[in-house]
Amino acid sequence: MPSQRNGTLLTMASARGKQPTLTGSAVVLRPWAAADADAVFAACQDREIQRWTTVPSPYSQADAVAYVTEVAAAAWEDGGAVFAVIDGATGDVVGSIGAHDMRDGVAHVGYWTAPAGRERGFTSDALRTLTGWFLGDGGAARVELVVEPTNGGSLRVAEAAGFTREGLLRQRLVVRERRADVVMYSMLAGDPAMAAAVDERPGTLDR
Ligand SMILES: CC(C)(COP(=O)(O)OP(=O)(O)OC[C@H]1O[C@@H](n2cnc3c(N)ncnc32)[C@H](O)[C@@H]1OP(=O)(O)O)[C@@H](O)C(=O)NCCC(=O)NCCS
Repeated sequence: MPSQRNGTLLTMASARGKQPTLTGSAVVLRPWAAADADAVFAACQDREIQRWTTVPSPYSQADAVAYVTEVAAAAWEDGGAVFAVIDGATGDVVGSIGAHDMRDGVAHVGYWTAPAGRERGFTSDALRTLTGWFLGDGGAARVELVVEPTNGGSLRVAEAAGFTREGLLRQRLVVRERRADVVMYSMLAGDPAMAAAVDERPGTLDR
């Protein structure tokens, strides 16, 4: 998917190689495509996504088009990886997960799942799958994510995926001019939840 950024023509198959497709238990994580813009636009109208994430607000069709083309391509160029989360049974786009860059081997992950796809285990499966890849072929030494202590669903996702709760970072996050405490979670390759997954490198295609 070509896109223009900083005057440089980018493609999803960049100097870093091609962004892979990853297979989890119930979801497939694949690179975003231009045809996904309508699904992203619809999902990002959701109040919970607007409340807990830093997606633009209000969220326009142009934001969605930019996300699935320029933003996703830029993430891959910057050492991160942003994936469409696909229901493996239907092929529908159910969410987004990824890290926008990587600094010092740390991938800082964020995610959202559209209302119709929630509480079916999709996000925790996507997080496990993405983390296994990041700590293997993805080149990360640490995967981290931060969650507001009042975001019960996201706390459960982190814990269901086996992340370690490290502590509370006071007033660390700004979401729409609101400053908030966050719980820091992390995963390292040697952690119990990941050790087996990294050894086996499950479901990584197109390496
Ligand atoms: C938070 C969010 C990603 C959860 O997605 P999901 O696909 O429903 O999560 P899963 O189905 O993988 O659920 C994992 C666990 O969390 C539980 N859970 C999910 N949503 C929950 C909620 N609102 N309240 C309590 N528990 C919840 C599930 O029951 C499941 O529990 P289990 O492991 O005991 O079975 C989704 O609600 C969302 O996109 N919210 C808005 C954006 C957001 O908050 N992003 C994260 C910012 S840090």
